[in-house]
Amino acid sequence: MNRKIEDLKKVIEESDNIVFFGGAGVSTASGVPDFRSATGLYNRKNDSDFSPEYMLSHDFFVKYPDKFMKYCRENLIIDGIKPNAAHKALAYLEKIGKLKAVITQNIDSLHQEAGSKNVIEIHGNLRDYYCTNCGKTFDLTYVKKFESTVKCDRCGSIVRPDIVLYGESLDQDKISYAISLIRRADVLIIGGTSLVVYPAAGLIDFYRGNKLVLINKETTPRDSRADYLIQGDIAKVMKELVKDL
Ligand code: OAD
Ligand code: ZN
Repeated sequence: MNRKIEDLKKVIEESDNIVFFGGAGVSTASGVPDFRSATGLYNRKNDSDFSPEYMLSHDFFVKYPDKFMKYCRENLIIDGIKPNAAHKALAYLEKIGKLKAVITQNIDSLHQEAGSKNVIEIHGNLRDYYCTNCGKTFDLTYVKKFESTVKCDRCGSIVRPDIVLYGESLDQDKISYAISLIRRADVLIIGGTSLVVYPAAGLIDFYRGNKLVLINKETTPRDSRADYLIQGDIAKVMKELVKDL
């Protein structure tokens, strides 16, 4: 067995206060594209004159709600996706009392589907939708009844997904909770994230311990902060880590 994984297994065996912070790379093995890899959304050709980053901004949503929703339907709302070994391993670690929470930038709900209970979705999710005028909430089944822009059945205004767009601020309650979990964590596992999007990436700075685990396919700007650095597929690594636990 890889020496680093062996060391890490020991760290996990000995802890009952692990916190996980992850991003899009956690879901790529489930068929959800990430953003910044060569095959990611931001490097994908699309038939629009706008960049994907701009299409996921508040400004774009307000100016072109129809194009925004089309982009969401074609790129973010993916049918039939299932949790992979990384999601399952994290749910298992919580179940056996080792992991306190999953803090995720992902909006795909796959952690919950794998059985994780304490999931903090700092960029929101694609399960919940709301009317931009009256606030009425809707689910994906309602949204799927529409072909393009979704309209509220109470006031007729535009309905949007409960996700955080560029130019919008994060939910302060969620961030405060995430910070308190990370501050108190014994082990912080970070995985499948490029760690370039702030304020999310800044959460790492609240960790005070000496067991910071970073699992990613590519290098990140924060690799030097890691006490345990593993370059590889997080699905495979997490599966190996929980084996025999
Ligand atoms: P990125 O696409 O920026 O980074 C994903 C990282 O995961 C990359 O560094 C990949 O190398 C790595 N990766 C991919 N597959 C992997 C695998 N199987 N195992 C291990 N690593 C893998 O995605 P995020 O960091 O999540 O925000 O991006 C952060 C935010 O930028 C997103 O939440 C989204 C985006 O714009 C908003 O939309 C607000
Ligand atoms: Zn309404």
